[in-house]
Amino acid sequence: MCGIIGIIGQDNVAPQMVDALKRLEYRGYDSAGVATIDHGRMDRRRAEGKLVNLERKLAAEPLAGSIGIGHTRWATHGAPTENNAHPHFTGGVAVVHNGIIENFGPLRAGLQKRGATFNTQTDTEVVAHLIASLLEEGLAPEAAMQAALKQLSGAYALAVMIEGRSDMLMAARHGPPLAIGHGDGAMYLGSDAVALAPFTDRITYLEDGDWAIVTGSGVVIHDRDGAIVQRDEMRSSTTATVVDRGNHRHFMEKEIYEQPEVIGRTLSHFVDFAEARIRPLDAAIDFAEVNRLALSACGTAFYAGSIGKYWFERYARLPVEIDIASEFRYREMPLSKKDAAIFISQSGETADTLASLRYCKENGLPIGAVVNVSESTIARESDVIYPTLAGLEVGVASTKAFTCQLSVLAALAVGAGRARGTIDADEEARLCQALAEVPRHVTQALHDLQPQIERLSHELSRYKHVLYLGRGTSFPLAMEGALKLKEISYIHAEGYAAGELKHGPIALIDETMPVIVIAPYDSVFEKTVSNMQEVAARGGRIILITDAEGAVAAGMETLATIVVPKVPEIAAPIVYTAPIQLLAYHTAVFMGTDVDQPRNLAKSVTVE
Ligand code: G6P
Repeated sequence: MCGIIGIIGQDNVAPQMVDALKRLEYRGYDSAGVATIDHGRMDRRRAEGKLVNLERKLAAEPLAGSIGIGHTRWATHGAPTENNAHPHFTGGVAVVHNGIIENFGPLRAGLQKRGATFNTQTDTEVVAHLIASLLEEGLAPEAAMQAALKQLSGAYALAVMIEGRSDMLMAARHGPPLAIGHGDGAMYLGSDAVALAPFTDRITYLEDGDWAIVTGSGVVIHDRDGAIVQRDEMRSSTTATVVDRGNHRHFMEKEIYEQPEVIGRTLSHFVDFAEARIRPLDAAIDFAEVNRLALSACGTAFYAGSIGKYWFERYARLPVEIDIASEFRYREMPLSKKDAAIFISQSGETADTLASLRYCKENGLPIGAVVNVSESTIARESDVIYPTLAGLEVGVASTKAFTCQLSVLAALAVGAGRARGTIDADEEARLCQALAEVPRHVTQALHDLQPQIERLSHELSRYKHVLYLGRGTSFPLAMEGALKLKEISYIHAEGYAAGELKHGPIALIDETMPVIVIAPYDSVFEKTVSNMQEVAARGGRIILITDAEGAVAAGMETLATIVVPKVPEIAAPIVYTAPIQLLAYHTAVFMGTDVDQPRNLAKSVTVE
């Protein structure tokens, strides 16, 4: 999290930096700041909260200067105040940082002993002090940078500017991504190509351990040992077009309604609808030969993977381990050469997912990535990319990326089933046909359910706690439903396997805690109805999400019954996502929360 920008140009760079920070705000919006050097003097503007506050400050007190660095923050160490906002200044050194300096405590103590005074609660400030102290010892900026980096542990993308050196910026990467942009008469550095897209599409990505000296005419990159290295310059396909909300109130709403189109686009990348079969899969992972699949992801992507597990095991008879990436990276799972690993990530930059990928790579596993950002680190470090074609997702709460992840995993599971001979061509055709109809069913669900769910959300907003229940693939979907609701409406919500209800959560049930049950009329429907009876018997109020047959078969009184189009089992998790998204969205809108940028969250999580 946190977004970084740096520019050496010819005109005043502050407005350009703000423009870039707008494109990086998905990485955090606790505070923002920019610093420039003008006539040899370094100055900065910083503001608590969203970028708009910084813009106001700059309008009142503009910053001149053709070199600068900027930052949008997701707070790790220190409250999200203006004083803790980057850039941090000390002794003529300005620093912006994305990541965590894990040894900042001992470093700070050492620097304090030597007389340094710290003004913030951040871990980042030690970097500024460290470089400043090395400069004071007489080291040149490059040498000071290299010596400082040697002392840091943790994760960082850094941009450093030195007062009196309006000809250069310094940058370093150890973990979080950092891109160098090559412009005409200007050079840039930024957290991603999206930030640099208005200025240039010529991008060089720093590799882990690299540090660089950027001047107006180019960049010199060093590896961790200090040797000068060449890193490829590539043409980024990232578009500079600023996406807007169109006629929608929020990006989240827009992205929910884009789903039929992007699901269709994603599915047709994997499914030949005319032939009703899965297109040949890349040989980097040969599903016919794999004994076990390790899936790993965070947040919403983890719930997509959890649904994927059911599909791979059912259709391909392939055992799947699914892990939250922050657990997987440390749990030392024994891996064998007959395993394969697939990582699921919208951004392709999530620190824990990336670390898990590297663990599997070191163990010699073939690596697949279900990613939405094709130039991301996870995409670049994988053997095969299974793209989600959701397009840019702006809303912090993931919607269209999730259903596209599900689409990819469903197609891969069917493809794996064919490769392993666990389903025949007829079954493949039947499943492909079911997937072909998903965009139409999602369109219908969104259209038909919106008025009812909007009304229901007013009722839901009165509660403080909500339980989501589901069985089979509806169980991970229940967890995603609860996550969506809590992250944007701030109503406490939990997702449970319906059968687990009686092992604890049933103690919570009374008329103040509605229970939302996801139950398509499928092979486990009757079992779920029994669990609903257990809720009703204790005065619990049920919101049932089912299809027409399920609504009749349940035969019980509910607070509301949301009737979703009847779909084949493989399509259900994707189609049933529509009502849970709408429910979270309308509840949050009714409650007046910040739907697109919920408090305390960030879209790309580049720290562990
Ligand atoms: C954050 C986002 C979630 C996302 C998760 C994983 O928590 O707010 O929406 O699901 O990170 O991100 P990734 O980019 O790896 O899918």
